[in-house]
Formats: sequence, structure tokens, C-alpha cells
Amino acid sequence: MLETNLLKEFPTNFSEVIRSEKIVKKHIKESALKHYKNLSNLIGTDIFIKHENHNIGGSFKIRGGLNLMHHIKKNNINGVITFTTGNHGISVAMAAKLYGLNATIVVPEKSNRAKVKMIRDTGARLIEKGKNFEEASQIVAKISQEENLYFVHAANEPHLINGVGTEFLEIIRDLPDIDVMILPIGGGSELAAAAITLKQFNPKIELIAVQAENSKAAYLSWKSGKIVQASNTTFAGGFATGMGYDTPFQLYRNHLTDFILLTEDEIKQGIGMAIKYTKNIAEGAGASTIIAALKTKTKLRGKKVVLQMSGCNIDDDILKEVVQKYI
Ligand SMILES: Cc1ncc(COP(=O)(O)O)c(C=O)c1O
Repeated sequence: MLETNLLKEFPTNFSEVIRSEKIVKKHIKESALKHYKNLSNLIGTDIFIKHENHNIGGSFKIRGGLNLMHHIKKNNINGVITFTTGNHGISVAMAAKLYGLNATIVVPEKSNRAKVKMIRDTGARLIEKGKNFEEASQIVAKISQEENLYFVHAANEPHLINGVGTEFLEIIRDLPDIDVMILPIGGGSELAAAAITLKQFNPKIELIAVQAENSKAAYLSWKSGKIVQASNTTFAGGFATGMGYDTPFQLYRNHLTDFILLTEDEIKQGIGMAIKYTKNIAEGAGASTIIAALKTKTKLRGKKVVLQMSGCNIDDDILKEVVQKYI
């Protein structure tokens, strides 16, 4: 389909991020960038948190969803389908609703209940099928062909990347002398968005990625310089991908200063630290940047560091465990 190719091959760059800001800002406000004195003392440098956890849908993903749905609508496409373990699906479902588009969201069985409920509450068609991401993706391929729906990929989707880039425009306006940005990575759309925005603004800004030891496909792809697959068993949905993805990978692969891997226990400690130090409930990937900064504190000394708090949609059972163990 011609429209599909146009959307999938759209440019991703600083100018397109600026253009997408007008679209995204019709629906969401700027998120807060807050300085934390207690975390700055603990980590030994100036620590700021970008609160993407306060966006509608509870994560940064809505920025990309809004931008993509704007372009889908402009191309007269009626409906979209995607597969997801959570926040990407919430974003697609919410944004599609705002643009009057039909959305079908396929989630693997046993997905995070809080996220599944948010998707269902938008009125989107929800299909819970497949034991894992890979099985769910086969189901999506079949339905999208049968029903002629636009398949929204969670990572290889230029309009998602440009839309997410608006977060970094806000950061450089609020803190033009930022030295380091630390952010979690799953499929890589967000890291790609940071690369095309922050690095274009100032190539000296360091980007540090965080991923789970138990789902480190992006880390292994970055290390080996090519897309690789890896096992994917983390509890933290934001990190949960079993492979790297080409569109974002090409954008960030040469722009990373460092990559930090966290154990499952460290991710949970991060959630505890988010509660204790910032009074925010963040999900695993969302809080991971705090513990990652602590782990690499000696390299951050004397720098202005922004930690992204990417999302808040935590599973109840994980939250209970963290409160019992770490608070
Ligand atoms: C809360 C949260 N943080 C981080 C990520 C990773 O984002 P990306 O897939 O763009 O690398 C996700 C992805 O779903 C997420 O939901």
C-alpha cells in the first residue's frame, strides 16, 4: 500500500521533530523537568528528572502515538493494529481515539493487568492472544492483512520517533546546558529520538542507555554493531524485547557513550528509590535511570544529568513486593 510506504519511510530528523511538536502539543502539555536535591546529594552531581510518567497514558509513548495518528488520518487510513506488552498499545489506543480512528491492540496472554485495563478502557478492540510477543506478532500480521489495517510497529516507525523527540526539545529549552541524558531502552524509539534531537543540538551531550540483564537485545546489538536476538525474560515491560530494531538502531548506534545493564533486583530497587526520593510511583523501566545513575556515579561527577522517568504503569504485584522489600 502506497500510504504505508510513505509513512514507514518518512524522514526522522531534528526538523521533523520540531514539526511534530505542533501536533503533539495540541493534545498534551509539556512535562515537568525537576531538580532533586536529595538525589543530587546521593549521586554526587546535579540530578534532574524528566517526568514523562505524568503524561496521559502514563508514559512518553503518547507523544509518538499522537504524531503518527495525525499522519494516518491525513492519509485517509481508517484503522490501525499493533502488538504490545503495554505502553505502546495504550498510546496507540488513546491517540487513535482522539483522532477518531479504529484501533486493534493485540497483547500476549498474561500481560500487565494495569496496562491491559487502560487499553480496554479506551474502547479499542483488545485481543489477548499468544504466549509471547513473537506469537502475538504473527496474529497481528494475519489480521492486518485480512482487514486492511495499518500495522503500527513499536520501533520501526518514523512518526513515532519524531513525536517522541518533542520530549527532548522541552529538555533543551529548560536546561540548555544539560551534559548527560540517561534513558531506558526497549525497542529503541526513545533513544533514537534523543539521538536526533539532543545530539543535533549539542554533539557533546552524552547519551547513556539502560536495559535489563534479562532482556539485553539492544545492548548486544550495540556491542556487536548489528541487530541481534536475545532471550527476553525481564518483568519490566518497557525493557521487554527480544531483538534490536533497525530504524532506531541506525539512528542511535553511533551516539551512545555508555550502556548500563541492571539485574531484576536492581530494577526493583530503582522503583523503591523513585518512591523514596521523588514520591513518584514509576514502573521498572521508568525508575531504572535512578539506580543506573547511582551505579555509574563516579563518571557523572560535575555534570548536569537528566534522568528520564519514562512511565508509571506498574503491575500491582511488583509494587507490593517493592514496598515490602525496599521501603
Ligand atoms: C515505561 C517505558 N520505558 C521505556 C521504554 C523503552 O522505550 P523504547 O521501546 O522506545 O526503547 C518503554 C517501551 O515500551 C516503556 O514503556
